[in-house]
Amino acid sequence: MVKKILWGGATSSSQYEGAYKEGGKGLDTQDCRPYLPRTEQATTKTRLLSYETIEKSKQCQGVGNYPFRMGSDGYHHIKEDIALIKELGLDIYRFSISWARIFPNGDEEEANEEGLKFYDGIIKSLKESGIKIFLTMNHYAVPLHLVEKYGGWTNRKMVDFYFKFAKTIMNRWKDDIDFWLPFNEINAGYFSPYNGVGLVKEENKPYDQSLVFQSLHHQFLASAKTIEYGKKIVKGQFGCMISCFCYYPLTAKPEDNMKLVHDENVNQWFCSDVLARGYYPYYMKRFFKERNIHVHMEPEDEELLLNNTCDFVSFSYYSSSVVTIEEAPQTAGNLVVTTKNPYLKATDWGWQIDPIGMRITLNKVYDRYQKPVMVSENGLGTHDVLEKDFTVHDTYRIEYLKQHFNQILEAVEDGVDVLAYCMWGIIDIVSAGSCEMEKRYGVVYVDADNEGNGDYSRYKKDSFYWYKTFIENH
Ligand code: BG6
Repeated sequence: MVKKILWGGATSSSQYEGAYKEGGKGLDTQDCRPYLPRTEQATTKTRLLSYETIEKSKQCQGVGNYPFRMGSDGYHHIKEDIALIKELGLDIYRFSISWARIFPNGDEEEANEEGLKFYDGIIKSLKESGIKIFLTMNHYAVPLHLVEKYGGWTNRKMVDFYFKFAKTIMNRWKDDIDFWLPFNEINAGYFSPYNGVGLVKEENKPYDQSLVFQSLHHQFLASAKTIEYGKKIVKGQFGCMISCFCYYPLTAKPEDNMKLVHDENVNQWFCSDVLARGYYPYYMKRFFKERNIHVHMEPEDEELLLNNTCDFVSFSYYSSSVVTIEEAPQTAGNLVVTTKNPYLKATDWGWQIDPIGMRITLNKVYDRYQKPVMVSENGLGTHDVLEKDFTVHDTYRIEYLKQHFNQILEAVEDGVDVLAYCMWGIIDIVSAGSCEMEKRYGVVYVDADNEGNGDYSRYKKDSFYWYKTFIENH
């Protein structure tokens, strides 16, 4: 019998919920990132947050220029949104818990009951509708206090703070969650340290790479401890997640191909190698040595990692990348910059659209780990137009989805064990890279712009009806 893929949608708390200081929530790292009008540099700038920028953001009492504080106002639209998800017929919904809603400062003794109750409601209604739940325990946002007082993930104490948070939510929803994910895109800690590991940038200085990898080591431990505890009490399975870039060499030059091996290993596979296999891969030894990177490990760390690997591997895939040792025209990708591929078209944000890259990635991930694979994010970020009659004719999104879904089905034919597909930003949310509302992914339009104008009403796009029919037929 052919195994059914679960067709789903995904959001994250900081991009969706808003209500940044309601229900007892504390300030988190994403609440401090300002919207910057789009320029060539905007994505890079917003990622490199300094203490000065954080301080300035704290002076702003309202939403101001900080779009994550409003998100898509999901906190106040949750019932309506779940009804839409139900109408769409999703098999699975991926969302994340806001850490600062449960532990506002991160280091409290007691959890914030009001925050837990908010998620009780979501989980209950999803379950009643028969929708499976894929829970991201931490999607980038960290309580700001943990960054300011302890230095974020650079500090080993974060493992205990995170573990306390993880235990609280596992104890509460142990029978309700189908798939648990300790960290969103854990490899972002390397190429986007503020988002990934809450590392604040010192003015005019590059990131200290030892701190970056030390922070990642702490996240590996936090993930392993969570799995160790969770396996004893929860029903669902545990995953890891990386951002995948599907690298191609620009030429057949051996040097380009060697660079590809290197970039793929370090940027893409390193974290999933640790979390899915249980040990640091061989290639990191040389990488650390040549860059004078030191990661402090306690004697018990090795065993903890080895004994607590994930059950499935998930990844985000939006576009493919090109590698060369030569100077070549560049374009943007998911939190990274890459060489332009002459064979591909790109989105308005420069992300190169490559459906076949999805099939390649599914094959590679499955081949590497031999564990079930999940597409935890994929989708098209574009400008959409809300017509006078409140329709949105996003034929380009339908085309994008059609082509990517065909490639997923091809990968299944190839023999890849695909668990689920979660379309990113199923309801329009604030973009994580460029902090803007106008980069839309959803099949549901949210009436708000980059300046926060609009009333946040929801409207079904043409892609809503297309995805609904697709799910019905599959
Ligand atoms: C992934 C993140 O990196 O890509 C999401 O997990 C993010 O949070 C998504 O939204 C798309 O990126 P962007 O920058 O277009 O929002």
